[in-house]
Amino acid sequence: MFILQCIFFYILAYVGTENFGYKICPGQDSKPASPDIQINTMTTSTIESVIKQALKTFSFTNKDTLENFNKNFSKLLSQVSNISSEDIHFENYLLTQQVREIKRYRSDKVSNSIKVDVYHINRAPVTYIQIFENELVTLGVFVIREGHKLPLHNHPLMHGIIKVLAGTLKISSYSVLDPNNTGNTDEGGGTNVHQFDIPGLGMVPIPCYKEMSSTQGSDFQTQTDSHPTSYCPHSILSYLESPNVFLASSHPPLLLSSEDNAKYLTPRARNLHEISCVNGPAAFLDVIGPPYKPVTLQDCTYFEDVGELSADNKSIRMLHRISCPSYFYTDEEKYKGPPINV
Ligand SMILES: [Fe+2]
Repeated sequence: MFILQCIFFYILAYVGTENFGYKICPGQDSKPASPDIQINTMTTSTIESVIKQALKTFSFTNKDTLENFNKNFSKLLSQVSNISSEDIHFENYLLTQQVREIKRYRSDKVSNSIKVDVYHINRAPVTYIQIFENELVTLGVFVIREGHKLPLHNHPLMHGIIKVLAGTLKISSYSVLDPNNTGNTDEGGGTNVHQFDIPGLGMVPIPCYKEMSSTQGSDFQTQTDSHPTSYCPHSILSYLESPNVFLASSHPPLLLSSEDNAKYLTPRARNLHEISCVNGPAAFLDVIGPPYKPVTLQDCTYFEDVGELSADNKSIRMLHRISCPSYFYTDEEKYKGPPINV
């Protein structure tokens, strides 16, 4: 028994030396090889770090403080700002590809072999590459081909972050005017609705609001605008119910390239936007939390700008809910970047 114990401790002492696990390369001295290679296999990729931070940010509950959310959101914004097309292995040919090849495999019983059918399909105006999605967050890349755009759409009760990866984007944003911020109320205490004659739509009822509050008209990067979704009253979605024309404040369009930091929207500020490419195709990383919820008010809805409410203030616009425009449809491409392990 004593002899067996001695052998066991001898083995332990041997494998415990610093040489264990290191490969000594020919021609080098006996110094252990640098463990860099081993560390690299365990390193978190930049995109994986972004996803982890997004999950941390959007997994808040009502027990979390707004301050904590804002701290996590700022960190996420900073990380997304540093993402480049190389970090997700984005392939530039996707920007200009007009036709894509699809292969379908089938067994040929006559020759007892596998045959390949090759199809060529025109690319959609927009290609989507999904990187990650769960119940908290969606990350993906939109590729907008030259001359195309994402129509005006909303992000109900969501935060969204955009980082341009290639080309130049023009983003036209709107903030819905708070229906509770009405200056005129009828006798029942509800919103005072007026009829407006809108070209192409006829007489349309629109709730009247008093002038925008300072936060609605200013830059949205204020703490009060960064409410986590769970803190937002559901009433901020009332513009999606009746009537189907509502008022929104338009913000000056932003021109963004890959040199620019990421920009964001909140459940209240700049929540509606139209995204077009300028002078050629473009691609951007899109981070939204929480994801859309189909067949609810938190689904994606499309709108058109039907003009200003009055000549005195052209930034207050009338928006009209529409079905998805026929010019907009997407196809998909597989994500080929670093593996995501979360
Ligand atoms: Fe969007």
